Amino acid sequence: MKKFFSIVAASLLALSVGCGGGAGNPADPNSGNGNPPAQDNNASNSSGDVQVGIILPTKDEPRWIQDQTRFENGLTQAGFTSSVLFSQGSSATERSNVEALVGRGAKVIIICPQDGTAAAGAVDEAKQSGATVIAYDRLITNTENLDYYVGFDSKAVGEAQGEYLLSKATGNGNPLYLYSGAATDNNAFDFFAGAWSVLQPKIQDGTFVIANSSEALALADKAELDREELGKILGQITTDWDFNVAKTKAEANLTSADAKLKGNVFILAPNDGTARSIADTFAADTAVTHYEITGQDVEIPSVQYIIDGKQSMTVFKDTRELTEAAIKLASQVLNGETPETTTTQNNGSKEVPSKILDVKTVTKDNVKEAIIDTGYYDASQFTGLE
Ligand code: BGC
Repeated sequence: MKKFFSIVAASLLALSVGCGGGAGNPADPNSGNGNPPAQDNNASNSSGDVQVGIILPTKDEPRWIQDQTRFENGLTQAGFTSSVLFSQGSSATERSNVEALVGRGAKVIIICPQDGTAAAGAVDEAKQSGATVIAYDRLITNTENLDYYVGFDSKAVGEAQGEYLLSKATGNGNPLYLYSGAATDNNAFDFFAGAWSVLQPKIQDGTFVIANSSEALALADKAELDREELGKILGQITTDWDFNVAKTKAEANLTSADAKLKGNVFILAPNDGTARSIADTFAADTAVTHYEITGQDVEIPSVQYIIDGKQSMTVFKDTRELTEAAIKLASQVLNGETPETTTTQNNGSKEVPSKILDVKTVTKDNVKEAIIDTGYYDASQFTGLE
């Protein structure tokens, strides 16, 4: 496998552009309250009243920048004022952000939590102010005060990743490297559980050999894992959704792997950001002759990696549909209508009225049809696309 420094450099540049700005909020009503200052990145609307407040986990991943833009445009078009704040990996900042938005009169608070359990306190506070609270993409657990949840079918994401790896495996003894998202994210459990449901029978029958997790190995005879068991595995294979952690872990795994665990390998990577960094690490190991690696989010750099044959697949979660669903719920609440939901999701305290959206596998074979022809991205954003 060759390295493609130019594309890596281009990805890093894209990331650093995405990370720009966000110099804090001079008008933060909570400054001086002991909490970290609210992070307002919507320079056009960093003070004054807002109807809808949105809090996203980080601006360091292209995925959430897309959501920000879609929220800002969609809510303006729907005729509502809004402000998007980022938590930047801190539950304390997330809470300050909620307080800031509530202080600015937000009647609907949409939160994609940094930590799905810790966010319950922020939800309770928003609710006390009279706001309606919507969990976005990631469920917020253990609070009765969460009003709605909009997200994707996270089990189906993991199943799609597992099925892809399985479709590429022949014979027995194929080395399988497992990586997961952050254990603070409810989705990470569902992604892994979905993948496990497909991979576990194939670990049992010898198709795959787990290469990097003694915890997964110890549970290999269990088709269904409970939360605690999943937690044990995640504790060992987590990337924390951080591509540096992913890289360090992949390097350590390869250092301790013997020759039998190299050659043609299979890698369950939880999302695109971590997939790119794990893929680069495996590509740099001369004893790895070929790898198949999963991802999710159709991030632009990963679509390029797929075109270039450096990432095998990604799972398309159409964020146009997700922001649209959240905006529709918010509009219905603000217009005094009864919000439409299609199902419920148990968050440990209640059945939360929810909308759960479908996902789609994207590989080199259907990338044009799925991503370009649907207008999600423009062909000019990529090189080598046929
Ligand atoms: C989201 C993914 C994202 C990951 C890391 C998950 O909760 O569903 O789309 O890649 O968080 O931010």
